[in-house]
Amino acid sequence: MFNKLRRALRWVKAPQMITQEILDRGLDTTSIWLPGYGETVITGNSDLIKQVVNNRSCVGGLGMKAMKNVLGENALICAEGDIHKRHRSQLMVFFNGPRLQENEEAFKQIIDKHLNSQVGKEPFNAFTLFKSITLENIIYLTFGEMDASERDQLMELCLVFTDSFRNPLRLILKLTHWDLGELTAWGRYKKCHAQGRAFVRRKIDDIRVQNQPDSSMLNQLVLDDSENALSGDEIVDEVISTLLIGSDTIAASLAWLMSELSQRQDILDALHAEMSAGNSTKENALFLRVITENLRLNPVAPHLTRVCKHATVVGDYAMKEGGCIMPSALLAHRSNANYASPNEFNPDRYLEFQPERYQYFPFGFGTRRCLGGNLAERELQLVLAALLNYDMEFEQSRPSEPKRHAIILIPCDGPMMRLKKAKAI
Ligand code: HEM
Repeated sequence: MFNKLRRALRWVKAPQMITQEILDRGLDTTSIWLPGYGETVITGNSDLIKQVVNNRSCVGGLGMKAMKNVLGENALICAEGDIHKRHRSQLMVFFNGPRLQENEEAFKQIIDKHLNSQVGKEPFNAFTLFKSITLENIIYLTFGEMDASERDQLMELCLVFTDSFRNPLRLILKLTHWDLGELTAWGRYKKCHAQGRAFVRRKIDDIRVQNQPDSSMLNQLVLDDSENALSGDEIVDEVISTLLIGSDTIAASLAWLMSELSQRQDILDALHAEMSAGNSTKENALFLRVITENLRLNPVAPHLTRVCKHATVVGDYAMKEGGCIMPSALLAHRSNANYASPNEFNPDRYLEFQPERYQYFPFGFGTRRCLGGNLAERELQLVLAALLNYDMEFEQSRPSEPKRHAIILIPCDGPMMRLKKAKAI
């Protein structure tokens, strides 16, 4: 039992270490006991992943039960069946191409403001800076133009909120749920959870009273009078989820990209040259390939969690009702069977090769594909393009080790970097 528990804790805190051990043994699938899920199959095998994704008994929302406490009963990521379908169809429109384009100018200004504020200053933690950018962008997408002090208040709440779950064990161990106000992480989380919900409720009430349509997500959800419209409580849960999931994830991916580039001055130089020549938007440009390669090598969501609603068979595995199986991007993206030299950061691999659907899935699959996937890809491009206007200097000589931050993986050390004078292009 002690060994099982120790392995489970290692998985929660550092899944990449267990993943590497599995791969080093020449395997792509293993079974591990996890608190709250029991014996769980973890796989990077494309055939098995295909079967899981296409098996209607293996469902997504049930596996996210630990998040319900945090995001709310109605959050899309924890929902199933008709509720999931209805919420998804209501939200999808805000994360598609045309809507994202409407926000792009505002996003660029936010990015420039934050990057400019660091030029010539002391080294900064990349994840922390990117988080301010991605948070302000997602607040803009959700609420539209906002009074600066109100926005800063909301940003502060979101930061305390996500910081409360830096230790992932807090999500799953009820033992850590002591509400001693400011003295405990759980107490701080409860307080800002209540304040955050009250903030969104006030905004909803204002929109109802003013009844003035605009293009922000919240305004449109509140004034929607269609038969599928979300209720006030449902909207609060979706707004909280969007703010929390929609900032840390993109910031983490950007931080990983910095960590990779910190080791590859050759690639950084080539990116600057490509940008100067105006070639970075061309099909299969290095600019796009580094983003793809970073999402492969450093998937911030290391695995998908599927729980079996009914007993079922997946590959050689007879799954019990309630059994858990995790298609793992960490395993699939680093498997020798899928990639040559899988641990190497090599954007050129995509010049001659395109991974298949079940070999590359940083945003998941199908009806449960990441709601913010398009937004994330575009924001990664916008921030990288803006960064290439500066000289970047990094404080570290080795690639970063991953650590968990709630359910995602971030570089343990930032990384620390500086921005110097804008490059003359
Ligand atoms: C680099 C950034 C991101 C990555 C790598 C990422 C990854 C993922 C993955 C792998 C899933 C599938 C989970 C599953 O099937 O169990 C997912 C779902 C989801 N993501 Fe993201 N995500 C990112 C950014 C965002 C952003 C910006 C938002 C903002 C709205 C977002 C919102 C969601 C939601 C709501 C779901 C649940 C979708 C559903 O169950 O229908 N994500 N994400």
